[in-house]
Amino acid sequence: MGEGERGIPGRPDHGWTFFRQWLKNPLAIAAVSPSSRELAQKMLRELPPGASKVIELGGGTGSVTREALAHGIAPERLLVLELNQELHTHLARLFPQAHVACGDARDLKLIADRIGFLDDGPADVVISGLGLLSMSRSTQHAIVEAAFSVMGPQGRLIQFTYGPTNPVYREVMRDLDLAGRRASFTLWNVPPATVYVLSRARSRRVAPVRAR
Ligand SMILES: C[S@@+](CC[C@H](N)C(=O)[O-])C[C@H]1O[C@@H](n2cnc3c(N)ncnc32)[C@H](O)[C@@H]1O
Repeated sequence: MGEGERGIPGRPDHGWTFFRQWLKNPLAIAAVSPSSRELAQKMLRELPPGASKVIELGGGTGSVTREALAHGIAPERLLVLELNQELHTHLARLFPQAHVACGDARDLKLIADRIGFLDDGPADVVISGLGLLSMSRSTQHAIVEAAFSVMGPQGRLIQFTYGPTNPVYREVMRDLDLAGRRASFTLWNVPPATVYVLSRARSRRVAPVRAR
């Protein structure tokens, strides 16, 4: 069945496209349906003032991408990375003006460099819809490290989770010297989700007061 045959004729049915990929690879997709608009908006609310250069990991069918654009992020300042080839094709068709790349979040730096996305400076924010809870510690480490490698010192990683706590292993947080903050929660998502914001612990330290 083609995409347009479900939902509104001629319009892609994101839910069906997503669910089909979940059936093929539930661990990698890590959710049965795309994120709700409510969740996507809560993630975008965590963008620091003035943030204009954004990378999204695990774009899926574009729920968060759509909200990023609606939030005012210019498409040429947005890079969306998606591992699944079908979902990548879907995203590239939906967002022709954004940078949409097919690849593994662990290779983010390489991919961003290759397309010249970092030529005019680092990204302000990385937004992630990746299912970190189902990943090993070493995979998480590689992905979170890659995310911070493409951002400046004030960069933040905005991540949602279906679990009750920060989805990033404590050891990974410690090894990469990160601090995490629980930002918001929404019941209006299947399943309900929490948004976490990770930043470099050092950038949050208060400068020592100088003796006069
Ligand atoms: C839970 S879904 C979220 C999709 C979308 N952002 C949303 O919120 O509806 C996770 C997405 O991450 C993608 N993904 C999983 N592992 C990945 C990886 N290592 N690199 C890039 N994308 C990955 C999956 O294919 C899937 O589309």
